[in-house]
Amino acid sequence: MSSNNDIDNIFEKAASGKALVKSRHTLTIDYVPEKLPFRDAETTTLAQALSTILKGSRPSNLLLFGKPGTGKTAVVKNVVERLKKKTDEFGIDVKVPIVNAKLTNSAYKVLFEIAEHMGINKEEKKQVHFTGLSMGEATDRILQYVQKKKLHVILVIDEIDSLVDRNGDDILYSFTRANERMAAGGFISLIGISNSLTFKDKLDPRVRSSLSEEETVFNPYTVDQLRQILAERARIAFNEGAIADAAINLCAAMGGREHGDARKAIDLLRVAAELAERERASKVDEKHVRAAQEKIEKDTSYEILKNATTHTKFVVLAITKSKSGNTGDVYSVYSSLCKQAEQEPLTQRRVTQIISELDQLGLVATDIINQGRYGRSQKIKMTVPLTTVAEALKEDSTFATLIDG
Ligand SMILES: Nc1ncnc2c1ncn2[C@@H]1O[C@H](COP(=O)(O)OP(=O)(O)OP(=O)(O)O)[C@@H](O)[C@H]1O
Ligand SMILES: [Mg+2]
Repeated sequence: MSSNNDIDNIFEKAASGKALVKSRHTLTIDYVPEKLPFRDAETTTLAQALSTILKGSRPSNLLLFGKPGTGKTAVVKNVVERLKKKTDEFGIDVKVPIVNAKLTNSAYKVLFEIAEHMGINKEEKKQVHFTGLSMGEATDRILQYVQKKKLHVILVIDEIDSLVDRNGDDILYSFTRANERMAAGGFISLIGISNSLTFKDKLDPRVRSSLSEEETVFNPYTVDQLRQILAERARIAFNEGAIADAAINLCAAMGGREHGDARKAIDLLRVAAELAERERASKVDEKHVRAAQEKIEKDTSYEILKNATTHTKFVVLAITKSKSGNTGDVYSVYSSLCKQAEQEPLTQRRVTQIISELDQLGLVATDIINQGRYGRSQKIKMTVPLTTVAEALKEDSTFATLIDG
């Protein structure tokens, strides 16, 4: 089978004489390897919980927790795919819609996707249209359909915390209570995936207790585990000899710096390969990984700054323009920038808060400066290159003229 990857490879080989990557899609975020090392226990727990459906009974609701990049989505996708193969094999009718509440950025669209997956819109007069119903009515139509058809449903909601942040837990309440109201036959089990460990605190106690009939926590990978995961990924993604072991180890070390994040490590691998190809290197090495890290950081900071509120942008600009960098001076530069732009400045307290938010995002740092017998003082500075700050801010017309002035 010839894919776009293969075509790309042909062109790249021709252009450089030697291609580094042999299977580009295995480095993308959508690719899920068939084997997930170090996730046997989690896979077994999930498979066991879901296997109840093969006996015709309702699996427990289940919550999966874990920091970003710990394999939650990958494990669920693999287990669900295998489950579907088995149910097809045995001729058992189950529906397993998987929706991502963050990508599907409205609660109504979550319901729409569930309805589409179950086939409601093809079969029923009472459809769940793309828009136009109340949330309550849309939920009811889904539940009525499940009951009428006596469907066995495992509903997977990935990034479930963003659904609750945006729309509260009404939908979850309806789905978790539905089974009590449903006559014998149909049922819905809920699998929720969240990378926020405090997610449960946001739920109504009734929803909390029924949603977490069972719970599984995914621990971060160790650097050594990341190294093995990456080595395997590199084996299928790169041509032989196209990546140095040292580069793989560095990706693993960087992916494990905050917490063992496989996504971050694989992103580094992909971007490093892109950079190496761009300069027509014959091998991906450590310097490409370092450059990749810089590029990813720069791209992220740029996005955050570009989408920041106007006052956060004023504060950022003030930090770059302040000479002493102490809080008082930053505030006075900030105030004068606001006046120049004919905007009302926020209080000093609020500005201090904004600075500490920027600090948490890693966009600013505070140096302690020793001033001899005058004691010590703090100097706030941006950790992001000034060119990146300028690029991100000048897209906003308020700042276009302030930046150089
Ligand atoms: N054990 C593993 N073996 C191989 N690849 C893995 C493993 N765990 C995760 N990955 C890969 O790492 C990336 C991130 O994993 P995944 O998307 O499952 O993380 P997640 O826990 O869902 O993170 P988030 O909370 O940010 O959604 C994916 O590309 C996935 O294929
Ligand atoms: Mg995920």
